[in-house]
Amino acid sequence: MKVLLIGSGGREHALAWKIAASPMLTKLYAAPGNPGIAEEAELAAIEISDHAGIVSFAVENAIDLVVVGPEAPLVAGLADELAEAGIRVFGPSKKAAQLEGSKGFTKDLCARYDIPTGAYGRFDNAADARAYVERMGAPIVVKADGLAAGKGVTVAMTLDEALDAVAQCFEGAFGSAGAEVVVEEFLEGEEASFFCICDGKTALPFGSAQDHKRVGDGDTGPNTGGMGAYSPAPAMTPEMEARVMREIVEPTMRGMEEMGAPFTGVLFVGLMITQTGPKLIEFNTRFGDPECQVLMMRLKDDLLVLMNAAVDAQLAHSSARWYDDAALTVVLAARGYPAAPEKGSVISGLDAAKAENIEIFHAGTKLEDGGRLVAAGGRVLNVTATGGTVSEAQRRAYEAVDRIDWPEGFCRRDIGWRAVERERER
Ligand code: AMP
Ligand code: GLY
Repeated sequence: MKVLLIGSGGREHALAWKIAASPMLTKLYAAPGNPGIAEEAELAAIEISDHAGIVSFAVENAIDLVVVGPEAPLVAGLADELAEAGIRVFGPSKKAAQLEGSKGFTKDLCARYDIPTGAYGRFDNAADARAYVERMGAPIVVKADGLAAGKGVTVAMTLDEALDAVAQCFEGAFGSAGAEVVVEEFLEGEEASFFCICDGKTALPFGSAQDHKRVGDGDTGPNTGGMGAYSPAPAMTPEMEARVMREIVEPTMRGMEEMGAPFTGVLFVGLMITQTGPKLIEFNTRFGDPECQVLMMRLKDDLLVLMNAAVDAQLAHSSARWYDDAALTVVLAARGYPAAPEKGSVISGLDAAKAENIEIFHAGTKLEDGGRLVAAGGRVLNVTATGGTVSEAQRRAYEAVDRIDWPEGFCRRDIGWRAVERERER
């Protein structure tokens, strides 16, 4: 089977690594890919926004399955365009990707199907949003409706912060993504990410993870795309998983089907585990980055078999098996990330850092003429390890991190701290 993978981050390197291990695979292409992905796939120099280019590449190369990594092309309708050209695709349609592309859409779905989530209001003008914020009081959460590359959410601890965020959205700080605003109840508890692979009707539970969004140790500093993750998430016990499936995932699948937008692909369920139970913070319609990296290290089954079963609506007859080991990934970022990462510094020592059960996934790297590997983005490498416990995976990941020679890079030193603390108390 010939597969085309769309994307160029650490998530896509992990997907390429796992897909490449499938006996079903005959040829893997990636567009546009990165130097790490190039070790697993043949790269095609097509940007992810070039839908016409992707469709014609898929047709010309008789691609049997396109796997879409990032959200932007899904929300912009790439899966529909591929399907129209007769190409099988793992990833939701434009209509189904509204679960990520419009926070208001998801909140309305929750209201209609009685899915537990924070109380909310949807607004298309600043005056009404302000009035709602003033009536509800702080703490409160203000969200740009559309895709804002993780920057559209303000968790406001004071009324002033919330009013500022409302003003910013309507002044265009997030472009068209902020033309509509969702104001939401502040939820308290422990966050967890839960994943399902979906075929339009059936959602197959696909593991859990915990991300670390702030740039600094102790969860301080600005928000990022994610500085590290581990799997499984301790809050996702089998009982909690069953409850999330029943109260959140199953009604969502039913709702999307009834709306004529059956959901296919990865449903990423962002949860707050509150005192009264799990509540939905948000959906994403693809794997998380870096959550995907830890899930791929733990997945025992053939990913390509499962993706095909999703596309063929056969998940009711499928299961996913996992290694008992925990996995943990540390993001190495370029100095200045997230505001202004420095580009071009040289990275070496990757071979020295490799070991059994360690994978170094590339995100923002570039191979220069002469073979030097340089930093070419904010998040640059994902050093990923497995171990019998999260503490063990953490120790092994940082050992590998310390063997990499890249003075211009940095990482958090406390990825996994919550789970490590729990393991110590046991
Ligand atoms: P999002 O971009 O929707 O993932 O939101 C970014 C982060 O903001 C989440 O990971 C949460 O930590 C936080 N957040 C979002 N919504 C809420 C909420 N209603 N209550 C508390 N925290 C929230
Ligand atoms: N790590 C969070 C995300 O992929 O959205």
